[in-house]
Amino acid sequence: MKTGLIIYSYTGITLKIATEIQTKLIKAGHEVVLISLKAKNESPNSTVIELLDHPDLSSFDQIILGSPVRGFQVSPIMKAFLEKTPSLNQKNFACFVTHAFPYAWMGGNTAIKMMKDLVSKKDGIVVSTGIIDHSKKPSESQVTDLCERFSRL
Ligand SMILES: Cc1cc2nc3c(=O)[nH]c(=O)nc-3n(C[C@H](O)[C@H](O)[C@H](O)COP(=O)(O)O)c2cc1C
Repeated sequence: MKTGLIIYSYTGITLKIATEIQTKLIKAGHEVVLISLKAKNESPNSTVIELLDHPDLSSFDQIILGSPVRGFQVSPIMKAFLEKTPSLNQKNFACFVTHAFPYAWMGGNTAIKMMKDLVSKKDGIVVSTGIIDHSKKPSESQVTDLCERFSRL
């Protein structure tokens, strides 16, 4: 099974978590390709999103998506990617977000719901989700928990 780990990260936290997920899943015997989305202007104030490339998901058996929370929503760059992506052909997805505010209701829950809706609109199936809060709990146990769930996609 080939897993695509498609993320957006601005300050590096989502990328760090994604790298840990990739390392743990590879150790558990999975093939995992990590791809970071990039846009022409990544400033949080930017209103126009122009992706630098659009990764093709067709070669992956299953996909993990990761994004920071932005203003109580999923990041505009992940949103733009999912809106422009062709049909997801009933593939299984796991979605995670990272956030800084101390409660999941301060953006994490809404961002996950947005990701689930965007994936469903393209005919993908979200089977697992996770919210990584880097404000209080040690992220190591959160990542271990995510990996356990994401390895059963
Ligand atoms: C413009 C902006 C808006 C943000 N909005 C939220 C928010 O609504 N809720 C939250 O918990 N964290 C928010 N954050 C914090 C980020 O979600 C958090 O630090 C995240 O882990 C950053 O991931 P990254 O380093 O991969 O970009 C915001 C950060 C930025 C820069």
